[in-house]
Amino acid sequence: MSVLDLFRLDGRTALVTGGNRGIGRSISEAFAEAGASVVVTSRDAGRAEQAADEITSQTGARCLGLPLDVRNQASVEDVIARTREELGGIHILVNNAGINIRQDILEVSDENWEAVLDTNLAGAMRCARAVAPHLKEQRWGRIINIGSILSTVAIAARIAYAASKHGILGLTRVMALDLAPHNVTVNALCPGVFKTEINRPILRDPEYLKEFLKKIPLGRMGDTPELKGAALFLASEASSYVTGSALYVDGGWTTH
Ligand SMILES: NC(=O)c1ccc[n+]([C@@H]2O[C@H](COP(=O)([O-])OP(=O)(O)OC[C@H]3O[C@@H](n4cnc5c(N)ncnc54)[C@H](OP(=O)(O)O)[C@@H]3O)[C@@H](O)[C@H]2O)c1
Repeated sequence: MSVLDLFRLDGRTALVTGGNRGIGRSISEAFAEAGASVVVTSRDAGRAEQAADEITSQTGARCLGLPLDVRNQASVEDVIARTREELGGIHILVNNAGINIRQDILEVSDENWEAVLDTNLAGAMRCARAVAPHLKEQRWGRIINIGSILSTVAIAARIAYAASKHGILGLTRVMALDLAPHNVTVNALCPGVFKTEINRPILRDPEYLKEFLKKIPLGRMGDTPELKGAALFLASEASSYVTGSALYVDGGWTTH
């Protein structure tokens, strides 16, 4: 067997929350290219279905688009049930759904704090809690939580987002301990600054963008396909002895 075979996902089913666009979309494409069946989601059913159809026509993989709101327990349970029914199981969960509301400690409202923490942190916990019994039962599973450079560094006016992404590392480590006896690994994938919807305020302000680029040793923002390799590593047999860790794909930002 070649080392490249360790990266194949044939026979696996993956659920990528918010996989219809941005980072989740690239990760979903990577898994489909590697042979997995993939469920992508959006709060909008039509957007999820369209993304699934596009991935299927690009890769030939089985792909399903389902509506999901990670803030809603019933919605989470419904997606896990439909994934198992329609694709025959679930092996890989990527907790990717996330939002950012940029406010500092002087201005943050309870409502915005709650929205960010409930989506980014509690949402990841809800999905993992619903998937974990199935992973445990089959004695194989991968959970990948999307953190951020803000899981370990700070940027002003990111009070709720940084708290949620720091929390992702705690969640990852405890779940790694809880699920290790069942041969289920749990890791965080922590991107730097990528060209997606969430960063529109940075992308449309050249001065702001210039300040950001100074902090990135590679001198540029990331393109979402540059996360494909790291995501596939954490989802596949290639990472069988890696759990509770955080993998930064950040152009070097967290070196300083
Ligand atoms: N871009 C970056 O530089 C960067 C850096 C570090 C970490 N991240 C993280 O990467 C993840 C993906 O972000 P992105 O950059 O790809 O941004 P994005 O294009 O805005 O994608 C965010 C995704 O999250 C979904 N989502 C938001 N709220 C949701 C909810 N309540 N329930 C279910 N899905 C929900 C969205 O789906 P719908 O709107 O279609 O429902 C969308 O698919 C996030 O966790 C983000 O924090 C991004």
